[in-house]
Amino acid sequence: MLSASVYNLWMMCKTPFYLDEKRFERIFSMNKYETKYLSVDNLGENQRNCPQLMQAALWIKENEVVAFPTETVYGLGGNAQNDEAITKIFQAKGRPSDNPLIVHIAKYEQLEGLVSEVSPTARKLMDAFWPGPLTLIMPKGEHVAHQVTAGLSTVGVRMPDHPVALALIEEANLPIAAPSANRSGRPSPTTAQHVYHDLKGAIPAIVDGGATGVGVESTVVDCSGDVVAILRPGGVTKEQLEAVVDNVMMDPGLVDQKQAPKSPGMKYTHYAPDAPLRLVDGSFAFLQHLVDKDRAEGKKVGVLSTEETKDHYHADVVIPCGQRAQVATVAHHLYDALRAFNETDVDVIYSEVFPKAGVGLAIMNRLEKSAGGVILREE
Ligand code: TXA
Ligand code: MG
Repeated sequence: MLSASVYNLWMMCKTPFYLDEKRFERIFSMNKYETKYLSVDNLGENQRNCPQLMQAALWIKENEVVAFPTETVYGLGGNAQNDEAITKIFQAKGRPSDNPLIVHIAKYEQLEGLVSEVSPTARKLMDAFWPGPLTLIMPKGEHVAHQVTAGLSTVGVRMPDHPVALALIEEANLPIAAPSANRSGRPSPTTAQHVYHDLKGAIPAIVDGGATGVGVESTVVDCSGDVVAILRPGGVTKEQLEAVVDNVMMDPGLVDQKQAPKSPGMKYTHYAPDAPLRLVDGSFAFLQHLVDKDRAEGKKVGVLSTEETKDHYHADVVIPCGQRAQVATVAHHLYDALRAFNETDVDVIYSEVFPKAGVGLAIMNRLEKSAGGVILREE
């Protein structure tokens, strides 16, 4: 109401700036809250009695939204059974409404009403990987807010492997729907500070539990049919899934650009730093040649490297992202490194590529999305 009348006033001033009503609403809603950090860094045995956590749980129960850490990335949580809470999540993130959310649970009883059926394959995967970075797509139950699934008949569910996330869900005593807590399109947040940077003013609080562990999001799998289809590669690797179930395949939409991905989120440009990112598959000399060409044209150039390779490049900014020899460290540092380029004035970023094995598959999926699918290959 208030913002509508302010909008009318603004229009009466007939300023020369273009600002349509939607954009105006968005700018004003960004300053709705004084976003607080609720620090729970040293949760001990009594984590559920921690006042910061109780405050966060109270907000969830009152259908407010709160960011919290998981083992993968920070999530922006709200009551999965309440449409008002889910609308707030979509608004704070600026998320397209056709992209469904993952629901987080702390105990198996919470599947009741959330899903209508658990297949034997789904049960096997839960036993093997929960709590952990695996999201299972299952037929949805009756107690799921309409917007959570964006109109789909299925719902994505996971049990996170993080003491703060589990304690928050237990304390709120509700399944918590949570997308990654970034503004839509940006790299996912792996620290409370990343969340603050993106959502300051748009949410009441961030539960700060320090940096997350895995660093890339959960693996999303559809196990409703005869095969287990990976809709989004993530923290649980294809190899790990294959050790537990037969017939694991990649969703064709992930590999073939002409087919629509089954996970709606996979069709959007994502994980992107401000400057364009270009993936380079070739020698150090080839990547350096691309850098030199752009610098000769007066551009400021960044390179996303690894600890082992950083000294091979001469560029305006070189940011190493973990160690090639331990690819899990690359996943852990990836989003922080992408975000770090936004603190520089580079015009373009060239990035190394990684073998698509283990968590390397998820790393390359995110890098390819950041780069809009284009890889520059040495002849
Ligand atoms: O690690 C994670 O998964 C993090 C933490 C916070 O749990 N969450 C996360 O959520 O990455 P989000 O919303 O950023 O990504 C969810 C992905 C999207 O690609 C979405 O399209 C897909 O899961 N998804 C959710 N429900 C689905 C469904 N019913 N069918 C197909 N894909 C679904
Ligand atoms: Mg996300």
